[in-house]
Amino acid sequence: MPSGRVRVKVCLLPTSNMTMSKHTISMRLLAALAGFLLLAAGCGGGSGSDGLNSSQVARGRAIYVASCQQCHGEAATGEGRAPNAPPHSVEGHTWHHADGLLVGVVLGTFQYPGREMPSFGGVLTEAQVLDVVAYFKTNWGKDQLDFQAEASRNWEAQQR
Ligand code: HEC
Repeated sequence: MPSGRVRVKVCLLPTSNMTMSKHTISMRLLAALAGFLLLAAGCGGGSGSDGLNSSQVARGRAIYVASCQQCHGEAATGEGRAPNAPPHSVEGHTWHHADGLLVGVVLGTFQYPGREMPSFGGVLTEAQVLDVVAYFKTNWGKDQLDFQAEASRNWEAQQR
């Protein structure tokens, strides 16, 4: 079985796109089997509903620990953070912001008065910041994920 290919497909395809026609039954079975294997492999571990990719999350976690945690504390709880640095947990405000805005804040293309947060432009790429954001998402609940997904859609629409 070409498990590598099927895996990626199942990760990206929303299940609602799969119909029950006779022709697709075997695909469904294959997809169900692949989905089962994915669960076993921990695909999207923590928050698979958002289609989060586990290697992206792992990269994001490593970047966070190396570059952000000393100020922001544990990503899941904010524990150990500096008094002026907000947590990125459910209790924080980060999930109110679109992916695009978070990238701007971190890279420093989005500025605001009295900023204390260092800018990571030239240090991290946009893709790396999105890896960190993907890691944040594993610590958010469905309400935060839904809210933030909509904020991101609105942000994208405004950029056009
Ligand atoms: C030297 C300390 C420091 C480091 C390192 C740091 N931050 Fe911050 N960050 C802050 C502070 C302080 C704020 C609050 C706003 C301000 O003063 O600029 C903040 C704000 C933020 C916000 C806005 C949160 C909100 O609720 O609006 C985000 C997102 C963020 N930081 C992400 C990161 C990421 C990702 C990293 C690592 C790549 C990082 N920060 C590294 C200090 C830091």
